[in-house]
Amino acid sequence: MALTQQSALLLPEKFGNWIVGPVEVPTPGPGQLLVKIEATALNPVDWKIQVYGMFIEKFPSILGSDAAGTVDAIGEGVEGFAVGDKVVYQGFFVNPQATFQQYGIANADVTAKIPSNITVDEAATIPLGLATAALGLFDLYAAGSAKLFPPWVEGGRGKYAGKAIVIFGGASSVGQYTIQLAKLAGFSSIITTASLKNTELLQSFGATHVLDRNLSEAALVAEVAKIAPVVEVVYDAISLASTQNPAYDIVAPGGTLVLVLPDQIDAAKKSAAPGKQIVNVFGNVNAPDRRKTGQTLYSKLTALLEEGAIKPNRVELLPNGLAGIPEGLKRMEKDQVSAVKLVARPQETV
Ligand SMILES: NC(=O)c1ccc[n+]([C@@H]2O[C@H](COP(=O)([O-])OP(=O)(O)OC[C@H]3O[C@@H](n4cnc5c(N)ncnc54)[C@H](OP(=O)(O)O)[C@@H]3O)[C@@H](O)[C@H]2O)c1
Repeated sequence: MALTQQSALLLPEKFGNWIVGPVEVPTPGPGQLLVKIEATALNPVDWKIQVYGMFIEKFPSILGSDAAGTVDAIGEGVEGFAVGDKVVYQGFFVNPQATFQQYGIANADVTAKIPSNITVDEAATIPLGLATAALGLFDLYAAGSAKLFPPWVEGGRGKYAGKAIVIFGGASSVGQYTIQLAKLAGFSSIITTASLKNTELLQSFGATHVLDRNLSEAALVAEVAKIAPVVEVVYDAISLASTQNPAYDIVAPGGTLVLVLPDQIDAAKKSAAPGKQIVNVFGNVNAPDRRKTGQTLYSKLTALLEEGAIKPNRVELLPNGLAGIPEGLKRMEKDQVSAVKLVARPQETV
């Protein structure tokens, strides 16, 4: 008999305290899969929702955007997946599709099988970070993208040879995937900012230059100019005022700056140097306007992982399953997590 109850990490109310409690196992609708979630990763949005009371109005709420596990049941009309397949998918901001629970619903058209060279824990580090990188740079259909040609689509690899890209926050989860996609797209100079202890890791993903994230804004702009006099695309994976302002200075007139958080660039700076496009990405492949690009990405994801063209983030496994997540979110809030993704195993909840 199918399981009807499971454990979830619940936010009982706005600004509430996390609790682990029982909820019903959801049922997959047409085009969906029920997945036994064996690994879920933590993201900044999860602690921001709890601390700032943003985004979510319906409680109790289950959060979590990254999942990997085993297909447990299949909805009507789904082809290409079987019960028992190991899969990776991105969650969404409604309880059945959230990932801080033991069973969740995935949209099959934006789900990928996990190849044998990637562990389930590693797979869980991929969906939100990769989607935010991919949709911010390479979404040809939605607003909020630099609209470059995707490197995962035929003819896309190497297309931007000879060009430079600057990526603020290369060691962040989003930054790591942005570097890797920029490499696939062929950018000749991939300049990123990070703590210098992360230099080797970021070079292994394709960064050609790693600049100290603690340089002053002026020093950073000057360093980039020495490496690449014209930068048409800047991706700010951090998007604090302290990164957005130098990012705006760096992008060339006619170029595009991709932000992951709301625009905080000085108005005077913008009017002094107009003609630079600023776009805000919403990094979720389940969003209606992002789904088409999400489908093309997920149709190639298994092969990209198998080939090693996309490598997952490094994993730090949290103890106690879902119960270990709140402590991990506190560490993220305090900026105590560097170049690693925190992962919990919901089936090991105590
Ligand atoms: N718009 C969207 O849809 C969307 C989607 C996903 C994420 N986001 C936002 O994007 C941001 C990044 O998310 P994430 O999950 O990738 O973060 P993350 O992995 O938790 O970021 C941690 C990393 O940020 C780096 N960092 C922090 N401040 C920095 C600075 N001033 N300069 C350079 N690097 C800095 C640190 O690098 P070092 O270790 O090298 O110091 C650290 O490794 C968050 O604000 C998140 O809320 C938005």
